[in-house]
Amino acid sequence: MPALVRRIAVVNMKGGVGKTTTAVHVAACAAMLGHRVLLVDADPQGTAGEVFSARPSRTLNDVMLGRCDAAAAIVNVRPGLDVLGSSPAAFLLDAALLPGDSDSLLNQRLASLPYDLAILDSSPAMGLLTYNVLTAATDMVMPVAMDWMAIMGARRTLQGVRTMTERRGHRLAGAAFVLPTMVNSVTNATKAAMQALQADAELATLLYAPGIRQCLDLTYATASRQTIFEYAPSSRGADDYQRFTSFLLSRPGAPTASRVPAESQP
Ligand SMILES: Nc1ncnc2c1ncn2[C@@H]1O[C@H](COP(=O)(O)OP(=O)(O)O)[C@@H](O)[C@H]1O
Ligand SMILES: [Mg+2]
Repeated sequence: MPALVRRIAVVNMKGGVGKTTTAVHVAACAAMLGHRVLLVDADPQGTAGEVFSARPSRTLNDVMLGRCDAAAAIVNVRPGLDVLGSSPAAFLLDAALLPGDSDSLLNQRLASLPYDLAILDSSPAMGLLTYNVLTAATDMVMPVAMDWMAIMGARRTLQGVRTMTERRGHRLAGAAFVLPTMVNSVTNATKAAMQALQADAELATLLYAPGIRQCLDLTYATASRQTIFEYAPSSRGADDYQRFTSFLLSRPGAPTASRVPAESQP
């Protein structure tokens, strides 16, 4: 079984832009396609784990503090999909760990786990936990909701990531993508936000232009503790996340699936 190689961080310093929705659905879709996937919930709010009703007794907080191995905190939630859950206790990690040496803890804790792919959901805070996510990541996806404020957040996030990676001497080995979310092409908000993304030289080069369309079923799905593939498999949200996940997995250096996917899955 291959050791964990590809780790995709889902990052944006703005909340409510679709980070958790993206992390959950890329992870779920990759698992459905036959990959062995670990979803790491690095947001102390714990929403990514909550979508799968994962309420483990051990969480990322314990793993980061060395109280248990990652394997002891990981729970299986779907075929091929495991979750390393979070808890509000992780809000205190910044105070419990010393800065500097602590940035690569997550990277160390995830080393040699037997997955094809890890998806790392993050909180909007550029604190120690997010530094750990970025240090552990090979690739980055930045969901950007289609409003003017979100473009500002995207610029700030890129700047924050750059400052952090330069200071810590970490480079993403893979790729970074800007993923438009809540796209509704008939609205002026989406048109203006897309134009702003395309006009920004740096954001434009990272842009995955099709994006994820606005889809209320995504909200209903996660509220009912299901993925969109379970709740509304024919919805726009299901289509768009399948397309985006296939795109990510077709990139150079992407992992090959080590499981046989179920026939009923996409
Ligand atoms: N494509 C979409 N269409 C409609 N609603 C969405 C979409 N993506 C996310 N949402 C909703 O927006 C809210 C914020 O999404 P979430 O993934 O929790 O953002 P974040 O993790 O960045 O805070 C949630 O209620 C979620 O269901
Ligand atoms: Mg979130």
